[in-house]
Amino acid sequence: MKRMKIAELLQSDTPIENVLVKGWVRTRRDAKRFSFIEINDGSGLKNLQVVADSTLANYEEIQKILTGSAVAVAGSMVASQGSGQQWELQAETVTIIGQSPESYPLQKKRHSDEYLRTIAHLRPRTNKYGAAFRIRSKLSFAVHRFFNDRGFICLHSPILTGSDCEGAGELFRVTTFDLKQVPLAAGQVDFSRDFFGSEANLTVSGQLAAEMFALALGDVYTFGPTFRAENSNTRRHAAEFWMVEPEMAFCDLHGNMDLGEALVKHLVAYALKECRDDLDLFARFVEPNLLPTLENIATSDFVRLPYREAVDLLLQSEQRFEYEVAYGKDLQTEHERYLTEIVFQRPVIVYNYPKEIKPFYMRLNDDRQTVAAMDVLVPSIGELIGGSQREERLDVLEDRMDEMKMPKDRYWWYLDARRYGTAEHSGFGLGFERLLMLITGIANIRDVIPFPRTPSNIEF
Ligand code: 4AD
Ligand code: MG
Repeated sequence: MKRMKIAELLQSDTPIENVLVKGWVRTRRDAKRFSFIEINDGSGLKNLQVVADSTLANYEEIQKILTGSAVAVAGSMVASQGSGQQWELQAETVTIIGQSPESYPLQKKRHSDEYLRTIAHLRPRTNKYGAAFRIRSKLSFAVHRFFNDRGFICLHSPILTGSDCEGAGELFRVTTFDLKQVPLAAGQVDFSRDFFGSEANLTVSGQLAAEMFALALGDVYTFGPTFRAENSNTRRHAAEFWMVEPEMAFCDLHGNMDLGEALVKHLVAYALKECRDDLDLFARFVEPNLLPTLENIATSDFVRLPYREAVDLLLQSEQRFEYEVAYGKDLQTEHERYLTEIVFQRPVIVYNYPKEIKPFYMRLNDDRQTVAAMDVLVPSIGELIGGSQREERLDVLEDRMDEMKMPKDRYWWYLDARRYGTAEHSGFGLGFERLLMLITGIANIRDVIPFPRTPSNIEF
């Protein structure tokens, strides 16, 4: 008896004898002399049809199996008599591993995404979420393969940090203080008595660590969880999300844009090729325009547009925006989407943003007004990637940190990298969940994260 996954079985060209399959019952119906059981084991979108003959010893028990139950079926794969599937499993034994009662919440009907979020522990058993999380897994693998094939070194950057990379103050504090008795010194919290002897938080980005390693190992990347206490309840923000962050030594902004474009195209093309069954589900039920959109991203050259020209285009447009467009202001999602969906109808890389709206580490351009920043904008999402060339000149970096009133002493090691063999270097962060939203057409970030963390939501 050979234990097999359903996806593997259904790909077979020839009948297979003596196989054992384990999975969960999606539906069961009785005919005159048979019971038909559809089971799914998560290995793929398609269910396996099991035919249980009324001559089986426990046939009475089989007739009571309800949706959601875990079963093991041994038998032979034969060409199906019915339409709708090529193969079916002619059962020799059907063993009930775990019964599921009639109150099982996932009966065969379409449930809303909102409802399924309230049973996030069960939703991976639905077609849609099973597909989403299989795609998530495949793409995570594809990210590592992309970088490994190009000679990048994978860096595990710390999750607990003492620094604020983005300087936006959206930090989750980490402490072991008894919150009823926080030690004070001169009226201030005395962090010297906390676990790390100083303030600590969850990382918002692995970039600062990646820069140190790029300036030693050349091309590196981190791919891990990042945390932001942004209290914005949008469909594109989560408090915990994963970021892909490459960092390259001896690389300027243009090389950085080239890598960002290559990465996005590679991942989209990979999904089209390797996740076809699952993607077809999203194209049928979630986003009718999905496949053409993805083909277009995988094959078109990304537009490269200086921030100033992007603002000009927005100011000239007839479109009414909720948020004001002006030089010196950050682009909002509606502006980003207008550029990529309406004006260019393909991904757009906006670069050279005003320094006032960007973090301290971005390289100051010769105009002294803008920094070598770049954002990759894609349809329906807006910003997918944010990155920059880094300021490698010690004096310019120190001036900038003073301007922004940053505690330079806490970043002594970051500044050291500019003292000892400094070199131009660049990198970016790609929001992995936003990539998954783009690829699946799923509109809400909560639905591409196994157990999403957003304001007022940490159940499961
Ligand atoms: O533009 P961001 O803030 O850039 C950085 O953190 C840089 N330190 C990255 C680097 O240069 N190494 O974030 C990068 C990307 C965004 O473009 C977006 O896709 C995603 O991370 N992102 C979020 N995704 C989900 N929820 C949030 N709250 C996000 N904030 C950023
Ligand atoms: Mg950004």
